[in-house]
Amino acid sequence: MPHCEVSDLIYNSQVHAVYRQMPVAVAVNLVNAILAGFVLGSIRSDRLLLSWFGLLVATALARGALWLCYSAAKHPDLTARRWCMLAMIASGLSGAVWGYGGAVLPASNTFEQMFLVFVVGGMCIGAVGVSSAHLPTLFAFLLSASLPIVARFLSEGSKPDAAMAGMAVAFTIAVSFVGIDFHRTIIKNLRLAFELAARTRELDQASARLKDEVAQHRATAAELRQAQKLEALGQLTGGIAHDFNNLLTAVLGNLELAVRRADMQLAPLLKSALRAAGRGATLTQRLLAFARKQRLDPRSIDVAALAGGMEDMLRRTLGPSIHLVITREAGLWPALVDANQLELAVLNLAINGRDAMQAAGELRIDLRNGRPGNDAPRELRSGEYVVLSMVDSGSGMDEATLSRAVEPFFTTKGVGVGSGLGLAMVHGFAAQSGGAIAMRSKLGEGTTVEIWLPRANAPPTLAPGVARQTFAGLHRRGHVLLCDDDPDVCMLVGEVLREMGYSVHEADGPESARRILAAGAAFDLFIVDYAMPGMDGLELITQARRKRPDLKVLLITGHADAPQRADAEGIAALLKPFKPADLTHRVAHILD
Ligand SMILES: Nc1ncnc2c1ncn2[C@@H]1O[C@H](COP(=O)(O)OP(=O)(O)O)[C@@H](O)[C@H]1O
Ligand SMILES: [Mg+2]
Repeated sequence: MPHCEVSDLIYNSQVHAVYRQMPVAVAVNLVNAILAGFVLGSIRSDRLLLSWFGLLVATALARGALWLCYSAAKHPDLTARRWCMLAMIASGLSGAVWGYGGAVLPASNTFEQMFLVFVVGGMCIGAVGVSSAHLPTLFAFLLSASLPIVARFLSEGSKPDAAMAGMAVAFTIAVSFVGIDFHRTIIKNLRLAFELAARTRELDQASARLKDEVAQHRATAAELRQAQKLEALGQLTGGIAHDFNNLLTAVLGNLELAVRRADMQLAPLLKSALRAAGRGATLTQRLLAFARKQRLDPRSIDVAALAGGMEDMLRRTLGPSIHLVITREAGLWPALVDANQLELAVLNLAINGRDAMQAAGELRIDLRNGRPGNDAPRELRSGEYVVLSMVDSGSGMDEATLSRAVEPFFTTKGVGVGSGLGLAMVHGFAAQSGGAIAMRSKLGEGTTVEIWLPRANAPPTLAPGVARQTFAGLHRRGHVLLCDDDPDVCMLVGEVLREMGYSVHEADGPESARRILAAGAAFDLFIVDYAMPGMDGLELITQARRKRPDLKVLLITGHADAPQRADAEGIAALLKPFKPADLTHRVAHILD
């Protein structure tokens, strides 16, 4: 504590001490006034005695009134100096009246004189007891009480009187020294008490700080262990996934070739093998995502538009009993992120939310701008981010589940229900994008998962979700309707075309393509798979052209004889498997 602060506290305590003793001083003054009046009144009864007695009582009462005012004041500390001044004046007046009595009253009687000297001396010693905390108050009494008596003795002129004056002076000096000594002890004790209190406070604060630091250290260590575990898992998974990816590419390629050359008997077996290998490829993709090794195509994306574009699909996924709310901060920055992977991440989180809210509930997607601070993931130290938080009112997680939730293959859902790869993908994707995820959850209190994505500096390009939603009114380089019953092919072709800048609408079979066309949306190109359940691609094209003869079309097929049939009807065809460049080249050619 600073020195001046201690001094102020001590000064305030001195004032308190003086006023605390004031009732004692008032009582002693009154009692002594009455006793002295009684003793002297038995010897003499003149006007002088009466007026002196009146003055004594009046000053005592005035000090009593001052004490009452001080006690009633709300903040006596605020005006400590003023209260000190008043105490000193009151003490001086009281002393002066006693001194005046000692100097003026005694006429000739030695007893009277001795009695008064005795009483005033006693009052001076009493003053040391009640006013030593504040020396000016003490000296105001001592001097104003003793000096008139000294002056009186000197004025008598006799030697015994001069000796008496000397004694009175010596007495006053002695009493003063006692008072000063007493005062020093009081101040020393006060200083010690205040310094001790300050040290105690400092110690308390230091111990609280230490406790905080230990807790923080423990939390950081736990987080570090978790991060190291994930890192090690990521490396392992990444290595395995990478090798598997290569293996599967060869397996898939060869199986596709084999399917084309196989006879009726072998073809179904090979197709089944192809499907299984395809599933393996999807799984490998997710593992690569967790290991932060997938191929990303980060662009400046308006995340609010992307979320808005997913709204219908999310509502369908969540079902009618879960209420979906999407909010966005005004002036939301664009994010630098791969839009397709972000859609996948949002879908993963939404499905987790749905699974956690079995009966009903609310799923909120909040979008805001964020800077690293208290609530940000620890790994983000600086920069600007777009934060997508998914808040559900579901079952929540206990600490053990929460700490393991992002590990690949960790799931609390039944066999065949959960893959345990959802959060792993979201975590890996966010980290690979230069962001991070933050999760908060308590059992029974719902879950919040935040994806922090780096802010993009360029203005946003349209998110694919938006293109899908509102393509009818947009002037892109072309609107494509894509129909294939194989979701992997659909995704791949769609992806390639979107990358070229086309907006793509996907239909998962002839029925859904017909519905979309019937709804009247305008397309520049219709890409159709040949072999589909219910109706083959050529038939679908013929039907579509009946309504819109000018519709440009492209048939994609793995059947060697299909292109000839297409050719015969004047329909462009592309043989699977094709490279992305083949596809874009053909599409560009048809549309130009
Ligand atoms: N929103 C949520 N509410 C409650 N628990 C969740 C939530 N999200 C994830 N979890 C828990 O984390 C586990 C892992 O999630 P995830 O990686 O998506 O795999 P999966 O959904 O296949 O189980 C889940 O099994 C579940 O226990
Ligand atoms: Mg999941």
